Amino acid sequence: MTRPATRSTLPRVRNGARPLLAKRAGTVLALAALLLASCRGATHEHTPIHPNLNMDYQERFDPQEANAFFADGRSMRPPVPGTVARGFLREDTRYHEGRNADGAYTEAMPVPLTLELLERGQTRYDIFCTPCHGAAGDGEGLVTTGGFGYTPAPTYHSDRLREVTDGYMYDVIANGVRTMPGYAQQIPVADRWAIVAYLRALQRSQYAPGSDVPAALLEDLRRGAAGDNE
Ligand code: HEC
Repeated sequence: MTRPATRSTLPRVRNGARPLLAKRAGTVLALAALLLASCRGATHEHTPIHPNLNMDYQERFDPQEANAFFADGRSMRPPVPGTVARGFLREDTRYHEGRNADGAYTEAMPVPLTLELLERGQTRYDIFCTPCHGAAGDGEGLVTTGGFGYTPAPTYHSDRLREVTDGYMYDVIANGVRTMPGYAQQIPVADRWAIVAYLRALQRSQYAPGSDVPAALLEDLRRGAAGDNE
C-alpha cells in the first residue's frame, strides 16, 4: 500500500538554499523602515502622494455649490415638505406650542402641577428671567434698573397678565414678545411649562385672596395690617 502523496505547505529547503521568505526579508524590512520613516509627523510643503484614488476624488457637489439640474440652482436640497426627523414628531400642539388644535392658546398647562415642577420652574426662572423681570416678577431686574437703555421688562402683577392664558405665557417664553427675545433655544419644552407654573405662583404670591390664608393666620395678618396703619 502506498501512502497518498502529501504536499508540504512549508517552503522547501534544497541544497542549503535560503527559503524564499528569508530571501525577501531584507527587502521587506527595508520597505517597512522607509514607510515608518515617513510617519514622523514632520510637515511637508508638497501635496502628499495619493496612490489609492478613493472617495476623496469622487464626483460630488461641495456645500453651497451651484447645480443647474434643479430649478432653484441649488445643489443642497431642503428636506421634502412634511419630513419629520426621528423622535421629533410633535403631534401634541398643547404641549409643544401651547395652542389647542384650533390655534387658540391653551387655557391651562398640559402638565400636572407638582412641587417638583414648581421648584424646577423657580431655578429656571432665576437663571433666565430674573435679569430683566426681577426675582419677584416686578420688572425690577438688573437689566431693567441698571440704566442700560433697554426696554423695561414689565411686572407680571398686572390685571392683564394675571388674566392671560398659560398657553400665552408659554408662547412668550418660546417665541418672545415685541422687544423680548424668545428663549426656545435655551429652554426646553418641559422647562418652559415649569417656568409658567412658577410665574403663576409668583403672581399668586403678590395677589393672594384672603381665602388662600388659614383663618388663624388671616386674623394675625389683619391685626398686623391694622397695626401698620396706626
Ligand atoms: C433681556 C431681558 C428679558 C428677559 C431675560 C426676559 N424678558 Fe420677558 N420681557 C422683556 C421685555 C423688555 C418685555 C416687554 C416687551 C415689550 O412690550 O416690548 C417682556 C415681556 C414679558 C412678558 C409680558 C408679555 C406681554 O404680553 O406683555 C412676559 C409674560 C415675560 N416677558 C416673561 C418672561 C419670562 C418667563 C422670561 C424668562 C424665561 C423672560 N420674560 C425673560 C424682557 C425680558
